[in-house]
Amino acid sequence: MRSKAQFMTHPIHPMLIAFPMAFLFAAPAFDIAGVVMDWPRAWTTGAYLSIAAVVTGLIAGVPGFIDYLYVIPPNSSAKQRALQHMVVNVTALVLVAIGWAFRDWSSLKPQVVAIILEVLGLCIVTYGGFLGGTLVYRNQIGVDHRYANAGKWRELEIEGRPGEAVAIDGANELQAGQMMLIRVGNKDRRLVLARTGEGYAAFDDHCTHKGGSLAGGILTGCTVTCPWHGSQFCVKNGSVQAGPAEKPIGIYRLEESGGQVLLTLPS
Ligand code: FES
Repeated sequence: MRSKAQFMTHPIHPMLIAFPMAFLFAAPAFDIAGVVMDWPRAWTTGAYLSIAAVVTGLIAGVPGFIDYLYVIPPNSSAKQRALQHMVVNVTALVLVAIGWAFRDWSSLKPQVVAIILEVLGLCIVTYGGFLGGTLVYRNQIGVDHRYANAGKWRELEIEGRPGEAVAIDGANELQAGQMMLIRVGNKDRRLVLARTGEGYAAFDDHCTHKGGSLAGGILTGCTVTCPWHGSQFCVKNGSVQAGPAEKPIGIYRLEESGGQVLLTLPS
């Protein structure tokens, strides 16, 4: 699904992570070279690079955290993976920061412990990159992969009490075959409004296999296909039409009245 922290539709997080990755690699390289060759300029450079690594890592983490909160489907395998990704990367930065305590403050020469912590941080952040790659290439987080004629990405936040019928702004702008993501009050509750050739349908955004976002899937006729592993569901009754999902998705009541589409909010 599309990133929330974006610049001209490009996710910002992957644009920024190149900086801490480069600094995390270069800092121990300069420190090791400086100590081995007794070259103060090299370890001084290593000291500044380690500071740059931590600062740019924290900056790069901000858009990633926004996407963690607002883009990654709740209660999904990707949410767990993203949490691991965050913990692993923060751990790497903390280790590098702890390494600053093991430098001579006047010459900036690192002790062996500082270099070990930097190398450890580099190894750990590499694993964090593996997790981040899985989030993009497998879970398609931040990937705008809409199919032909899907229209522009649409999201709406609505409020209301359970059982209340709420008008969905912009529902009439949907063409047959298009969908809209609806966040209900608590941002963890996400539904999809779909327009099919047979009318509107509302259903859970949560694929019952591993929690893929169905709003980012493909709507063909009355069937929605999950973008993660291809499960298919009937949007009219929620039934599974193709696995690996085994359980149906929740569907919600809609009415059309006075030219508006009214959604009855779930409990
Ligand atoms: S999460 Fe696996 S098919 Fe939807």
